[in-house]
Amino acid sequence: MSPLSGRHIILGITGGIAAYKSVSLLRLLVKAGAEVQVVITPSGKEFITPVTLSALSHRPVVSEFFTANTGEWHSHVDLGLWADAMVVAPATACSIAKMAHGVADNMLITTYLSAKAPVFVAPAMDLDMMAHPSTQANIALLRSYGNHIIEPASGELASGLVGKGRMAEPEEIMAALELFFAQEIKGHALRGKRVLITAGPTYERIDPVRFIGNFSSGKMGYALAEEAAKAGAQVTLVSGPVSLRANHPSIQVVAVESARQMLAACQEAFPTTDIAIMCAAVADYAPAEYAERKIKREAGEAPVIHLVKNPDIAATLGAEKRPGQTLVGFALETDHEETNALDKMRRKHLDMIVMNSLQTPGAGFATDTNQVTIYSADGSTRQGELKSKTEVARDILQAIIREREEAEA
Ligand code: C5P
Repeated sequence: MSPLSGRHIILGITGGIAAYKSVSLLRLLVKAGAEVQVVITPSGKEFITPVTLSALSHRPVVSEFFTANTGEWHSHVDLGLWADAMVVAPATACSIAKMAHGVADNMLITTYLSAKAPVFVAPAMDLDMMAHPSTQANIALLRSYGNHIIEPASGELASGLVGKGRMAEPEEIMAALELFFAQEIKGHALRGKRVLITAGPTYERIDPVRFIGNFSSGKMGYALAEEAAKAGAQVTLVSGPVSLRANHPSIQVVAVESARQMLAACQEAFPTTDIAIMCAAVADYAPAEYAERKIKREAGEAPVIHLVKNPDIAATLGAEKRPGQTLVGFALETDHEETNALDKMRRKHLDMIVMNSLQTPGAGFATDTNQVTIYSADGSTRQGELKSKTEVARDILQAIIREREEAEA
């Protein structure tokens, strides 16, 4: 059975000659058992008719915001939530630019902006348009959002020129989608498990308007929470101040501000937790005293803020850990990466440590992508590539599931 069987796929078609290949792609998707909703841009319809597409997908094709005669609104939000994946093929230079910059002037782009699912983009254009720095920069932007680019091939183009810009063949696009879904966490591997995740920064108050914090976005922790919940877990997400929202109903968010509050929330949840993942960037120090009133600028000496050490949440839970509980930490190192990460795993009694590489562009804080190496206490190492944080989250959870299965065997 294809890993695409039963999946909800949005097939986005934009206005390029390669749109004729989207018909074959649609057929392959339907044959693989996927439910496909075609969304086509107005100029896409100049290349391929909605009649062909609706007949093959067994669904009306969506193109406009409204049905002209009835006024019925087509909800891009519902569509975005329905999808397990969105694939834009062909993606013209124009649509890629709109996706990169959020120019939501048609149904396809609004759907893209609303989609929570992974997005695959298959560029198709003439070689000079493809090579232009603006197109390359826009593709790089899409990649940085965690979208998957299915590279165009070199070959004969509609213009008669020969070069890079031919849309990947439908079979290649299928292969990319199948590989992605095949790597997803199987079934409900975490059904009945309780997972505790810390995410984001902590803020340590100096006075009513100032704090010590850091640039952590919380994206990695929220991706872990989403993927764990999708795999069937009940998730407690202890989150520092971030601008993210958890969407899955099985995620309970406990919003905290400081390291001490984060520790208290974790200690409350930990006794009933099966798997704890410490993803937060906890401030190492907090001001020794909190000034009840805003500290005024003085003419003389600059004020001195005395700091005290914050509790180490991971180490505290490590000391309280019972058999059967799995505790995972993160490490962000600039030098002696492996030695420091392994040392941290031992010191904090972790079962696994995920090392973020700071060397790789696109990995670490505030990006949508990450590259990690996963070290286990049993000595195994798993080195990953630069991937979306969603995929990295799956890899981490897969590694945890495997270790727990081995420990139980
Ligand atoms: O010691 P370091 O901060 O590098 O360790 C990182 C790991 O420890 C991360 O998993 C982080 O969430 C956790 N940690 C913690 N409490 C702290 C400091 C770090 O839980 N006070």
